[in-house]
Amino acid sequence: MTNSASTSARYYLTTPIYYVNARPHLGHAYSTIVCDAIARRKRALGIDTFFLTGTDEHGQKIERSAEKAGRTPMEFATAIAGEWRGLWDRLGLTYDDFIRTTEPRHERGVQKLFSTLRDRGFIYKGSYTGQYCVSDELYVDGPPGTVCPDCGRVTETVSEENYFFKLSAFERKLLEFYEANPGFMGPESTRREVISFVRGGLRDLSVSRTSFSWGIPVPGDEKHVIYVWLDALANYLTALGYGSDDPADKARFEKFWPADLHLVGKEITRFHCVYWPAFLMAAGIPLPHSVMANGWLLFDQGKMSKSRGNVVRAETVLEVLGADALRYFLLREIPFGQDGGFSFDALVQRYNGDLANGYGNLVSRVVNMVHKYFGGLAPNAGAETSAEISLRECAEKTITAFGPAFDELNFSEALKSLWVLVAETDGYLTANAPWKKPADHSEADHSALQARVLANAAEAIRIITALVYPVMPDSAAKVWRQLGQGEIADAAKKSFLTNIAWGGLKTGTKFAEPAPLFPRVEKDAIERMQNIEDQNNGSAVEAASTSGAASGGSTAKTADATSAPPQTPVKQHVIPPHAPAPLQVAALYQGTTSVVPKASHKESGALAPEARASEKSPAPPAMQAPAPPQVAQPQSAVPQVPQEPQKISIDDVIKVDLRVAQILVAERVPKADKLLRLEVDLGYEKRQILAGIAQYYEPEKLVGRKIVIVANLASRVMRGLESNGMLLAASLPDGAPVLASFLEEVPLGARLK
Ligand code: MSP
Repeated sequence: MTNSASTSARYYLTTPIYYVNARPHLGHAYSTIVCDAIARRKRALGIDTFFLTGTDEHGQKIERSAEKAGRTPMEFATAIAGEWRGLWDRLGLTYDDFIRTTEPRHERGVQKLFSTLRDRGFIYKGSYTGQYCVSDELYVDGPPGTVCPDCGRVTETVSEENYFFKLSAFERKLLEFYEANPGFMGPESTRREVISFVRGGLRDLSVSRTSFSWGIPVPGDEKHVIYVWLDALANYLTALGYGSDDPADKARFEKFWPADLHLVGKEITRFHCVYWPAFLMAAGIPLPHSVMANGWLLFDQGKMSKSRGNVVRAETVLEVLGADALRYFLLREIPFGQDGGFSFDALVQRYNGDLANGYGNLVSRVVNMVHKYFGGLAPNAGAETSAEISLRECAEKTITAFGPAFDELNFSEALKSLWVLVAETDGYLTANAPWKKPADHSEADHSALQARVLANAAEAIRIITALVYPVMPDSAAKVWRQLGQGEIADAAKKSFLTNIAWGGLKTGTKFAEPAPLFPRVEKDAIERMQNIEDQNNGSAVEAASTSGAASGGSTAKTADATSAPPQTPVKQHVIPPHAPAPLQVAALYQGTTSVVPKASHKESGALAPEARASEKSPAPPAMQAPAPPQVAQPQSAVPQVPQEPQKISIDDVIKVDLRVAQILVAERVPKADKLLRLEVDLGYEKRQILAGIAQYYEPEKLVGRKIVIVANLASRVMRGLESNGMLLAASLPDGAPVLASFLEEVPLGARLK
């Protein structure tokens, strides 16, 4: 992935600003942690860095959430913004500014931007009648009843006098810009989608609303509030001082704008790669150097999100394993730009495998031996033998590989290459066994060997620690102290990463006392995290306990030879190759079947967690389509099955009304290649169900078939059609559904109990 940042000695990077209608979860923490790691590395390279995050507080959605909570929008936004900021602080994130869009400095800047666009002739007054998704604050093409392509909710019809931005005037200019700046957006899939969206034609964009008031007033026409996305995107400018006359603000703006990197989720690339550059071009403001899209963190196969109810909070992981373990996991496990599965099992596996048994164990062995054999003073390495040459060469190779991979946002590759050095050092130590004096070696020879081996191993650890610092700052700080190097934060301020090279550990350096880094955890850590989530979420944890391999997360030790073999292997549960396919609710909406990772579904009950029933429905159009997510494949050698699935009570079972129904009509839904529209007879009533099985069943062959449906599922609208219920099917390893049916005759409407 290309992150075509400027090459100057300053760097400005931003996270998206987060809506305050929801509390932060791990998905949000992911992008903010990525930015923090980048910011830390840039600073340690001597680059003057400005890292911005904040909260997006205006708009109808927030206004409605506040109303529901019985608070004013401002009270509501202030309370939730405090939670976001509080979490970032608990995670130790080193943002330089936290902007709230309700701050006067922002409002002033947004009004200036709006006036500039209007003065330059790019904003005009018109009227809009059409569909609007309040949840995504998105204008949607289509007739009343159209569902939002992003979230699947039914859009609302709005009819208003609005101000419009002449987006259509930028079609060609944007395409030329993309062409001339291939590194502007990434990954490649984003670039392709954005370009095809723009090629499909751009229509002018409504940039004000009059039907609610929670926003920034249009200057000179105060019954309008500025469209929340124009308001929100401007945060990247206003945080630096755009719109202020204060000389210090002006200087900061001059220094840091244009941004080097806007890191955004893949579903908001249209706003950042189309609207944002068009607004900036229209206002005569330079464009950012790059917009890079991260994939989604998945949990129980779906995007972790509040509306699905499948969230895990960062606080939970923080409490049990600490911030560094979370940071390491997210950056190592998920190739940046792809979707990646999160599961507690995978997290604990990585923690024990790479951190406790790998890096942590290595540090502890070396620091302890330096204390034991050399009184805590770094010994003199003496002359290199071939073993040291090969260790040094490995370290040099790692130094060369790590930086470019990290700077290209290939964090996973960078860390993988670093753990090759961890494993190499571990192997070097084991092969030379400084703790064991061979009978035919003299004391002096053995002491020289101990000095050579421990000095070289400690030097390798110094290199590993320096490189890993942006990813695991707290642990790196501890190791840095143990190696007698002082405070790593001070070293970072002195740009220590600019000249990291083999040979920096000085003989005689006084090591600090060894201290535990990553105490090994047992399986109960998983349970503890699940319980914490349980207490917070209630049923959402049901998903947690079954999500490991299903969510694409690695649940076994990775097959790569990068870390030390665990001393006590972590118990793995292995699916026998021909394990029967678990029965699950078949895909009920387009796209569902394609996201079921192969051979990895872990649900053992007859029903998928309730959360799935609320998943998104429609096939989004090209640009917004989170095309079948590129799920980061589990890196496990073997697929995993869950530990004991959480038990549910009989009360939970009888809540679900499963009935026998007969298919009367089956037909394809136009322009939805995965969706079938079924009319089914329950004996006591007929109803319509939409099912995402069109790729697997010919509609004609389904007519007359008796099936099982969930009869008491809340109705949903997809593609403008109402769906009342869902089908039950077994899911084959490749995701294909097999409808549940009966060998004996069963009457329509019979209940399954
Ligand atoms: N307020 C807008 C952004 C405006 S930026 C000028 C918004 N907010 S959001 O709170 O809904 O999302 C913020 C970011 O969190 C997005 O980049 C989104 O992709 C990211 N994530 C939310 N859930 C996520 C996952 N499950 N996984 C990864 N990122 C996730 O959109």
